Amino acid sequence: MNQQTIQTAPNTVQEWWKTGIIYQIYPRSFQDSDGDGIGDLRGIESRLDYLVDLGIDAIWISPIFPSPMTDFGYDISDYRGIDPMFGTLEDFDRLVAATHRRGLKLILDFVPSHTSEKHPWFVEARSSRTSARRDWYIWRDAKPDGSPPTNWISEFGPSAWTWDAGTGQYYLNIFLSEQPALNWRNPEVQAEMLDTMRFWYMRGVDGFRVDAITHVAPDPDKGDHPPNPAWRAEMNPSQRFLKVHSKHQPAGFDYVRMMRQVTEEFPDRVLIGETDGELKEVMAYYGADFDAFQLPFNFTLQDAPWELPEIVRRIEAYEAALPEGAWGNWVLGNHDCARIASRAGPAQAAVAATLLLTLRGTPTLYQGDELGMESAVIPPEAVQDPWEKQVPGLGLGRDPARTPMPWEPGPTHGFSNSQPWLPVFVPVEGDAAAQRADPASMLNHVRALIVLRRKTPALTLGSYETITAQDGVYVFARHLDGDSYHVCLNFTDTPRPCPVSGEVVLSSYVHEGDGAAHAGQIAPHGALILKAG
Ligand code: NOJ
Ligand code: MG
Repeated sequence: MNQQTIQTAPNTVQEWWKTGIIYQIYPRSFQDSDGDGIGDLRGIESRLDYLVDLGIDAIWISPIFPSPMTDFGYDISDYRGIDPMFGTLEDFDRLVAATHRRGLKLILDFVPSHTSEKHPWFVEARSSRTSARRDWYIWRDAKPDGSPPTNWISEFGPSAWTWDAGTGQYYLNIFLSEQPALNWRNPEVQAEMLDTMRFWYMRGVDGFRVDAITHVAPDPDKGDHPPNPAWRAEMNPSQRFLKVHSKHQPAGFDYVRMMRQVTEEFPDRVLIGETDGELKEVMAYYGADFDAFQLPFNFTLQDAPWELPEIVRRIEAYEAALPEGAWGNWVLGNHDCARIASRAGPAQAAVAATLLLTLRGTPTLYQGDELGMESAVIPPEAVQDPWEKQVPGLGLGRDPARTPMPWEPGPTHGFSNSQPWLPVFVPVEGDAAAQRADPASMLNHVRALIVLRRKTPALTLGSYETITAQDGVYVFARHLDGDSYHVCLNFTDTPRPCPVSGEVVLSSYVHEGDGAAHAGQIAPHGALILKAG
C-alpha cells in the first residue's frame, strides 16, 4: 500500500472549512414549521440546537429560492429571493443570525448552470429570436430533417434539446426541459450571476456549494458525443454517450475562477463544487494556482462497492492524486444517491461514519446519515422525483434518500403536523430522540467521533498512512507531531483480531466493560480508534 504523508503546520490557524465538518440540510425534509408537510427555514432554525449537540461546524442548505419546484428547487425562477414555501428573506436573515450566534457557518446552494423555464430571463429569451435576453440561453437550429442539433442526452433521460415551437429553434437543457442551460459565454450572464453571489455574501452567507459546475460551459458547436463503449441498454440512458463536449469544458474553469474571485472579496468564505468526474478532472477544479474551488467535492466513495480492498484503493488513489497543498474532502451521501446505510448495509453504518469522520480532509455529512437512515422504499403512488417519473424502474429515483427526518415519537415523528411530502421512515436504531437517549446508538457514536475529532489535531491535520487492509479489516493511521492514532474498521460480521495495539479512545460498541472486551479484537462491524503508545 502507498504511504501518503503531508507537511502540516500545526501552529498556524487553519481555515474553518479545513478543520470543520459540513452538514447538508435538504430543506424540504428537515423540519416543517407551518404545517404544509414541507420543511422550511423556521423549521431549520428550530432544530439548530440539535446540530450544535451533534457537533458539526457548518450547514449547507440545498436550494431555498423561488422555484416552480419541478426539480425541487434546482430550477430557480428568482436568484435573490426565498420561495414562500420555505419562508421569507426576513426568515432567512433570522436563520443566518441564529446560525452565527451558535458559532455555526451557513453555506447556500448556487445553481449557475441553468434556471427554471419560468425565470423571467427565459420567458423573455423565448419570446422572440431578437429578444435582448435570447443569448442568455443556448439556442440552435434543427438539423435539416428537424432533429436536434446534436445527439446529446440530458442527465435525466431524453435528448438534451427541447424544441421551442414559438421561435423555431431548440434550446439546450442538461437536466429537465424545464431547466434551460444558461449561456455563461455571455458576459452579461457572468456579471448577473456573480452579483447574485455578492447579494448573498452581503447577507452573511459563509460560502456556496456550486451545483452542476461540470456542466457550466457546454460547447454544442463541437458536435455529437461519441458512444460510450461500456453502455448497455439496461443502464442509465444518460450514459449512452461520452459527454466530451458538454462536461469539463475549458471555459468552465474560467467561470469557477470568477466565482472564486468574488468569494475572495469577502473574508473567510468557502467555495465548494459539485465536481463529479475522474480524479484528474476533480483535481483540475482546485485551479492551477489554487484559484478555483477550495473544496471540489470528492465523490470517489459515493459510488464505490462497500468492500475491501476497493475502498482502500480509492482512498489511496484520491490521496495520491491530490496536488501538493490541496485540502481534501470526503462525501458518503447526499440528496442524489442511495443512503450509505443501504449501500454498505445498516450494520456497517458506524464503520462508514467512522471512516468519513477520520479520513484526512473535510467531511460532509448528509442529514439523517448520523441516524443510520436507509434508502426508503417509496410506493409508486408516492413518487415525487422527476427523474424517476421520466426514467422509471431503473432505480435512478432520488426520493429514497430524501425522506423527512424522524425526530421523535408522533404521527409524523415530529417532522410536521400534517402529511409530509414524502413518507417518514424511522431507522432501525430509532428516531433522533430515542438514539440520543441510548448511549450505544449510531447518533451517539457520531457525536463521540466528532468530540474526539475536535480535540485531536492529528485527526484533522495529521498525515494519512494505510497500515493494512486484509481479512476484512482496514487500519489506517493519522500522524501529527509524534502523535499517532490508528483507525481500525471491521468490514465483516465476525470478530477480527486487531492488528495494532494502543489505548482505545473510541469504540463503536460502547457497552459496559468495553475497553477490556476490545483488547486485541474488533467486534463484528465494529470501529475502534486507538492512540498509539
Ligand atoms: C445536482 C443536484 O444535486 C441535483 O439534485 C439536481 O437535480 C441537479 N444538479 C440539477 O440542478
Ligand atoms: Mg413548511
